[in-house]
Amino acid sequence: MTDTSDQQNKGSGWEVYRRMLVYVKPLWFGFIASFIGYSIYGAGQALAAKWLEMVVDAVQGGAFDQRLWLALAVVGIFLMRGVGAFIGNYSMSYIARETVHTMRTDLFSSLLRLPTHYYNRNPSGEMLSRLTYNVEQVTGAVTNAIKITIREGLTVVGLLGYMVYLNWKLTLIFLAAGPIIGLVVSIASKRMRKLSRRLQSSVGDITSVASEAIRGFQVVRIFGGIDAERARFQKASLQNKRQFMKLVVTQSLNTPLVQLLIALALALLLYAAMDPVVLGGMTTGGFVAFLTAAGMLTKPVRQLTEVSPIIQKGIAAAESLFGVIDEPGEADSGSRDAGGVRGDLTLRNLCFSYPESDSYALNGINLDIPAGKTVALVGRSGSGKTTLASLLPRFNDGWDGELLLDGVPLQEYALSSLREQIALVNQQVVLFNGSIADNIAYGAMAEASEEQVMEAAKAAHVSEFLERLPEGIHTLVGENGVLLSGGQRQRIAIARAILKNSPLLILDEATSALDTESERHIQAALAEVVKGRTTLVIAHRLSTVEKADLIVVMDSGKVVEQGTHQELLEKGGAYAALHAMQFRD
Ligand SMILES: Nc1ncnc2c1ncn2[C@@H]1O[C@H](COP(=O)(O)OP(=O)(O)OP(=O)(O)O)[C@@H](O)[C@H]1O
Ligand SMILES: [Mg+2]
Repeated sequence: MTDTSDQQNKGSGWEVYRRMLVYVKPLWFGFIASFIGYSIYGAGQALAAKWLEMVVDAVQGGAFDQRLWLALAVVGIFLMRGVGAFIGNYSMSYIARETVHTMRTDLFSSLLRLPTHYYNRNPSGEMLSRLTYNVEQVTGAVTNAIKITIREGLTVVGLLGYMVYLNWKLTLIFLAAGPIIGLVVSIASKRMRKLSRRLQSSVGDITSVASEAIRGFQVVRIFGGIDAERARFQKASLQNKRQFMKLVVTQSLNTPLVQLLIALALALLLYAAMDPVVLGGMTTGGFVAFLTAAGMLTKPVRQLTEVSPIIQKGIAAAESLFGVIDEPGEADSGSRDAGGVRGDLTLRNLCFSYPESDSYALNGINLDIPAGKTVALVGRSGSGKTTLASLLPRFNDGWDGELLLDGVPLQEYALSSLREQIALVNQQVVLFNGSIADNIAYGAMAEASEEQVMEAAKAAHVSEFLERLPEGIHTLVGENGVLLSGGQRQRIAIARAILKNSPLLILDEATSALDTESERHIQAALAEVVKGRTTLVIAHRLSTVEKADLIVVMDSGKVVEQGTHQELLEKGGAYAALHAMQFRD
């Protein structure tokens, strides 16, 4: 992260923290429980000092008859502290885990509705590290900070109260160190937040580099990328180490400095306490207990000064989380129900450019696709075929010109209703870690009967290779289908689209990974499937599109030719040239 964003986010810390607290608000009962627990713990601390006073006074006064109950008291005090700490810790951890869970699911839900360009811009590793690392940091800030504040704060209150009760003048002298401690803590906090932001972004880098190298392990090895990847990872990891060490330096200087200040206060105390005016009528026991209580304050005060770094880390993490949560989702202002559309598509002077680029990916497309017809998009790589197909489910938005479904602009349909009408086989097949059946009956189709799934599997020629698999349709496919061949994966994706049985069907290079034999089978199956629905077929192999009702030839985002296979061949233009090239042999 750069310095400019450090600057931008400055000062909004308290607002961010308030927003973090909203997450723990519903868990107020947990706070009450932990407050009670830590109060017991804090009281135990003060009682321990009181106990010491009584022991010393008893020994000095020769009151040995008190030994039994004094001995029992120490066990009681520790028992009390233990029970208090347990109740406090348990309730606090409950709040923490509950918050992690809520925040994570909220963040994940936001990820699921972000528009395409967000995914294009943000490395997946960064998104993942937000879900894992940042969420934990936020929770630490909300719960650990509150835990320490309550537990140590109450201990301080208890001990100070007891000290005031023993000798208020001495206590005031001791407290003179307070403002200086505050100053040290506040300087350290500012630096902590800045460093924490950098630490987070370095965790994101580590995840990104690692996930790329893991996914692409074959390419890494074949193309001699091992050293480069190792270096890349080392750099990211080293950066992480450096940021972390800077953080540690700040934090570690903070603590001893505060302790030194307390020691100075103690020294002052001891010096002043030797003055009879200040000492007043304190007993030896009282004096020893006073010094002990002041000494016992070191630990809670030190821990209290560590609250601020924890909060700063949390605020830095929360800023980036809320950034994602606040990111606008996909534009979905339409309300029309697309259920029952026929599937007439009209494209009028359609232009589109990707937000990242300043040239048109689609440049003035005019097309009429009547319902139920099959249209093939052919053309050079990069001519805009996939881009055109991506507009129909509105994966890419913000085009100029008109794109009408049954005469209605696509934007007027509710997004989910529109997408219900479309089945899609992507250029890059996506399978989920589960069985073949799960992948065919994915998502909203999970309720499909085994019979329906088998039927779709048959139509897409999935059943052909099922017999050779150990568990048939219930065989697991591995992450993104790694346990299957490319052609098998593609057939499962086709089966999924067939099962959906929607009025619009998009097949982007859906048969590219199949051999000629299987392709012919699938062509036959698809010939059945496309009947009665508007189908957009994108293919490089022209043999697969010959039977289309309309062939559209694209080049540089424009339609250069359209017609049937026969018409275009006779015309002797771009299509005929492409055709001649492919069938030369
Ligand atoms: N996410 C993106 N951001 C920016 N530009 C993109 C993006 N995706 C594609 N493009 C650009 O848009 C143009 C059209 O790409 P598109 O994927 O539609 O081509 P295509 O016809 O499907 O090619 P192929 O036959 O190779 O699949 C290309 O110039 C490409 O560089
Ligand atoms: Mg493409």
